[in-house]
Amino acid sequence: MTESQPIPQTVADDKKVHGVVAEFTDVDSLLAACRRVRDAGYTKADAFTPFPVHGIDTALGIKPTVLPWISLAAGLTGTTIALLMQISLNGQTDLFEGIQYPYIISGKPFISLPAFIPVTFELTILLASFGTFFGMWALNGLPRFSNPMFTSPRFDRVTDDTFFLFLDAKDSRFDEAGAKALLGELGGEFVEPVLEDDSSKVIPKGLLIALATVICLSSIPALAVLRMRVTKSSSPRFHIFPDMDFSPSKDAQQTTTLFADGRAMRPDVPGTVRRGEMDWDLNFKTGIDMDELASIDPPRAAQLVAMQSDVAVDDEDEVVSEADVDAPAEDQDGEAADASEPTAEESAASETADNTPWLSENPLELSEEALARGQQQFNIYCSVCHGMNGRGNGLVNRRAQKILATTWTPPSNMHDPTLYADVYPDGKLFSTITNGVRKMPGYASQIKAKDRWAIVAYVRALQASQNATLEDVPGSERSKIEKEQAEVQAQLKAAAEAEAAKAAEAANAE
Ligand code: HEC
Repeated sequence: MTESQPIPQTVADDKKVHGVVAEFTDVDSLLAACRRVRDAGYTKADAFTPFPVHGIDTALGIKPTVLPWISLAAGLTGTTIALLMQISLNGQTDLFEGIQYPYIISGKPFISLPAFIPVTFELTILLASFGTFFGMWALNGLPRFSNPMFTSPRFDRVTDDTFFLFLDAKDSRFDEAGAKALLGELGGEFVEPVLEDDSSKVIPKGLLIALATVICLSSIPALAVLRMRVTKSSSPRFHIFPDMDFSPSKDAQQTTTLFADGRAMRPDVPGTVRRGEMDWDLNFKTGIDMDELASIDPPRAAQLVAMQSDVAVDDEDEVVSEADVDAPAEDQDGEAADASEPTAEESAASETADNTPWLSENPLELSEEALARGQQQFNIYCSVCHGMNGRGNGLVNRRAQKILATTWTPPSNMHDPTLYADVYPDGKLFSTITNGVRKMPGYASQIKAKDRWAIVAYVRALQASQNATLEDVPGSERSKIEKEQAEVQAQLKAAAEAEAAKAAEAANAE
C-alpha cells in the first residue's frame, strides 16, 4: 500500500474520482467541519482520526449500525431451526408425520422444552455470532485488499496526528469542485481528490495457494473416517492416547497382584461407619430388641451382632445375610426356590417360629417432618406396588394383573388387620422393608435405615387414616364433619323417599 504509485498531481482522465479528502489539525475544527458537511446534506462522508473521537457519529449524522438487528435475526433463526428440528425429530406431532423419531428419554414428554434448551441455546449463539461476524464484513464491504484512501501518502499520518474528512463521490450531492470548495471553506488543508485504486483486484496467488492447502489438509480427517467406514483391518487400532486407552485401573470383580488376597475390589475396613450412622444402635438397624433376643436366642443374637459389625457400612450385605439368618436352612442355597410359592411348611415355620422380640415402638422421634419424609419415601418406593393409599393396588399390581394374572402374588393391603401395630409390631414392619418378605424384595440397599423407620411411621398413619373414629378428629374439625354427615344423611333420606314414592306410583299404575 505504501509502495503505491506516486500521487497524481492532476486528475488523470482515465481514473475515476473516489472522493475528496481534506486534512484538519485538531478535533474541534474537524467536528465543526463534520457538522457543516452534515448540514450541507452530505450523507456519504467519513472522518478518519488517530483516536476515537466522541460524538463524531452524530456530528457526521451517521445512523446507528443495523448490525444488532442482523445478529438478532440470525439468532432467532437459530432458535427456530433448533426448535423445529427437535420437535420434528422427537415431537410426535401430526405436523411432522413421517420424519419424527419419538423416543422416550427419562420419561419426559416428547415435546419437552427444558430438554430442548441446550441445543436451542447452542444454535442460537452459533448463528448469532455468524450473523454478527459476516454481517459486519458485509456492511464494511469486506474482504477487500486495498482501500483507495491508502493511495495518498499523506493519509499515513491518520494513525499519528492528523484528522481527515472525506466526501464520497457516491454521494448524490457530490460534485468534485463543490466538495473541494466546501472543504476548503471549512478550514481543511491539502484538499485533494482521492482516485480509485487501480491495483489489481485479483486475490494474490500466494494467498490462494495457502487457502487451497488449508482446505486440502482439513479434508484429511474426513477422508480418513470415510475410508475407515468402508474398509476392514486386522491390525490393532491406532491409539492417540495409549495411556488413556489402556488405563491401569481395575474394573469390578477383576483380580490384581497388588493385594495379597488378589481382589481388586477392596472390602470396607472393619468397623467403618457411614456418615451420620455412628449413633445408631443395633436395635435401630434390625428392628429387634437385641438385649431381649440375646436372652432368648443367644446364637441368633450373636450372629446378628457379628453381621452388623462386619458389614456395618454396607446395608446391601445386611439384606442377604440377615435374610439367611431368618430363612430356614434349605432356602439358603440358591434362588430357585424363589420362583415358586413358599411351601406350606416354610410359611408355617415362619409363622410359628416368630418369637422375635420386635421393637414395638418406632425409635425415630415422631414429628411432622419425619411423617412427611415417610410419606415421600413411601410414595416413591412402596406406592408402585402397594398403592398411594396402601390398599395394594399400585400401578405395578394393576399392570401385573393384566399380563400375568395367574402367577402374580398381589402386594399386601396395608389396612389388613393382621398388619396393625398390635399384631405386627413396628420392628417387624421395619424388618419387612429392610429384608423383604416372601415375594417382596428388601429395600435396605435403596432406603436408608432412618427413612425406613419414617416409612414405618407413615404406614401407621395410613392405617389410622382408614380406621379412624370421630373421637380421633380434633374438636374444631369434628363439628364440620358432623355437619357434613348430617347433610349426607338428609340427602340419602330424601333419595330413599323419592324412590319409595316412585315405587308406589308404579304400583298404582299397575
Ligand atoms: C415390587 C412390589 C412391591 C414393592 C415396591 C413393595 N412391596 Fe411390600 N409387598 C409386595 C408383595 C408382592 C407383598 C406380598 C408378599 C407375599 O405375600 O409373598 C408385599 C407385602 C408387604 C407387607 C406384608 C408383609 C407380611 O408380613 O405379610 C408389608 C408390610 C409391605 N409389603 C410393606 C412394604 C413397604 C413399606 C414398601 C415400601 C418400602 C413395600 N412394601 C414395597 C410387593 C411390594
